[in-house]
Amino acid sequence: MIKWALIIGASGDIGTQIAEELAADGWSLYLHYFKSSERAHQLQKKLTMKFARQDFLLVQADLTTDQAVDELSQQLFSLDALIFAQGTTNYGLFQKLPAREMAKMVQMQLLSPLHLIQVTADKLAINHFGRIIFIGSIYGGVGSAMEVGYSTVKGALSAFANAYSKEVASLGVTVNVIAPGAVATRMNNMFSPTVRQAVAAEIPAGHFASSQEIAYWVKVILATEADYLTGQTIYVTGGWLK
Ligand SMILES: NC(=O)c1ccc[n+]([C@@H]2O[C@H](COP(=O)([O-])OP(=O)(O)OC[C@H]3O[C@@H](n4cnc5c(N)ncnc54)[C@H](OP(=O)(O)O)[C@@H]3O)[C@@H](O)[C@H]2O)c1
Repeated sequence: MIKWALIIGASGDIGTQIAEELAADGWSLYLHYFKSSERAHQLQKKLTMKFARQDFLLVQADLTTDQAVDELSQQLFSLDALIFAQGTTNYGLFQKLPAREMAKMVQMQLLSPLHLIQVTADKLAINHFGRIIFIGSIYGGVGSAMEVGYSTVKGALSAFANAYSKEVASLGVTVNVIAPGAVATRMNNMFSPTVRQAVAAEIPAGHFASSQEIAYWVKVILATEADYLTGQTIYVTGGWLK
């Protein structure tokens, strides 16, 4: 039986890579996007041509809005895995972070995902195989100056995985966080090449992760054989900051 995963943020760099790897592993996918309609449509087209026996459905939603989860969940039928690869940060001193921006970050990266988990919990448990994976961040573990709001939200995801994994373990559902360090994606385009080079020089592995180096761990956790790993935050940082 073909399994179904919903990738929130499939239009992002890491999300797209996750989609490609899961499709190659035989999954059917709901591909979520927010603004990057063109990118999402191209991904759908590419995967449909390459893996004709699987299904690839597009779903659009702005997770900062209250109605997003209800709209999304109405478009789902089967669901075996829920992968959260959406996210944005806000760079600057915490004192200057507008309350509205903080609230949007919390809604998009924490509250909407948690609500989506509530409304899809029965589907995820139906086959005694369910996977919930968040793309968190090393900043959720160690914290970062100038990204205090973002660090807070990412840390909360790990706290949620700690607790919720215990509630659903007996249902065959696992809950984990993959927490990258610095990844070479468009999210880091706001930093100049000089700043990015300085960061890379601090990373013991000597370079930013590729999206593949993050997506690999998602694939591993989705394996049936990974059923005993739950409630974990796995730091994939090339040795940086831990
Ligand atoms: N890059 C890094 O160094 C790094 C490090 C640690 C953790 N992470 C985490 O990795 C994940 C993926 O990031 P990335 O590097 O792949 O960045 P990215 O390419 O910028 O992708 C961001 C994704 O978030 C989606 N998104 C933005 N606003 C949204 C909203 N209001 N509602 C729903 N979705 C929204 C985007 O959708 P559209 O494009 O369709 O608008 C896109 O799919 C994020 O959780 C990020 O925090 C990244």
